[in-house]
Amino acid sequence: MHRNNSGSGRNIFDKVGHSQEGKNPVTVARKSLKAMLDLTADHDAPHFHHRQLTGLDLIRNFWYAIALGNSLKQKHPLAVSLMGHELVLYRDQSGRAIALDARCRHRGTHLAGGWVENDCLHCPYHGWRYGSDGACQHIPANAEKAAIPRQAHLKSYPVREAQGLIWLFWGDAMIEDSPGLPPFAEYTDPQWRTINGSFHWDGHYSRVIANTIDMAHAPFVHATAFGRKEAPQVPSYQLEAGEWTGTGMIRFDTKPAYSLKWILGDRFPEGSFRATFYLPNITRVDLKFGGIQFALYLAHVPINSSETITLWQHSRNFLKTPLADFWMAQDVKKTFLQDNEAVRLQSGAAPVSLSEEAHAPSDALEIAYRKCLHRAMGMQKSPRTKP
Ligand code: FES
Ligand SMILES: [Fe+2]
Repeated sequence: MHRNNSGSGRNIFDKVGHSQEGKNPVTVARKSLKAMLDLTADHDAPHFHHRQLTGLDLIRNFWYAIALGNSLKQKHPLAVSLMGHELVLYRDQSGRAIALDARCRHRGTHLAGGWVENDCLHCPYHGWRYGSDGACQHIPANAEKAAIPRQAHLKSYPVREAQGLIWLFWGDAMIEDSPGLPPFAEYTDPQWRTINGSFHWDGHYSRVIANTIDMAHAPFVHATAFGRKEAPQVPSYQLEAGEWTGTGMIRFDTKPAYSLKWILGDRFPEGSFRATFYLPNITRVDLKFGGIQFALYLAHVPINSSETITLWQHSRNFLKTPLADFWMAQDVKKTFLQDNEAVRLQSGAAPVSLSEEAHAPSDALEIAYRKCLHRAMGMQKSPRTKP
């Protein structure tokens, strides 16, 4: 289980004042959807109701997963774009990941083109040397005692490395007061084999997140694979909501496709699909068919307002031989390619104002995501400025 481990997990239906007990679940879901659409019932910052998430907004005071740990090699700086903010990552001699603003303060050269030496990053143009705190320490063209300009200082960011990912703190609040990292126990569990990769989407990250927790698209978007067009109904489901997370789970009959076809044959096994979001940029999908289980831990990096890179980690508890890795990775890629066909046809960010788009009961989890986003935005001072 990967419920909110703070122990504060609660049912979103309870939150809006509808008890589940003794009621027909369909009725409850309908009522709750109606209640969920009533923003004033659930938001304590009414003056933020008209704020929309735009391409330029990054919710502050959260850890963002921004790179796969194994993509950052010793001595090779890496360029990362976070909603248009250009960053550079590198490792010091101890292997610790460092994150700095990417543009050299001298003439704006991207420092990912530079080199790493003795814990410092050097600009490829005139060789200015920056330390891990972002301060310029040396200007090769200067005479020995010449001063280093005060502006020659790059912003540096707090970084952590955990669960196969490099995380950057974007914000100005106390880090200790911010939400921790979403759990991914399978990453270190020997009962599971985890592989990773990345996928480029043509859409805003909020649309990508919504796609990966969407319960109703598979029969259409994945019709040629595991989606069953003849069985499009989504059973009503319960939500569990934490402060910055939400989970929904459904049972369904799938059509085996891709690697599952070798394993399950042509049977239509009953499966369960559990989807979870964690603000600001993680979703997780758990699929279970009897004893066969997959967990997809997805970090959606907002590159800019119309591009997202998903750093995916795929854990499986079966067929753990590395020989199967290629096929598992292919399954992920083929699935995302189909999803991207839908996401690229959407426009802009997912509106956080629930009245902007129409909703159905099957969208309950995405509604919970938008409400969380809305609440997070209400706590922002000025999301468009850098922390
Ligand atoms: S542009 Fe970086 S050192 Fe001149
Ligand atoms: Fe999908």
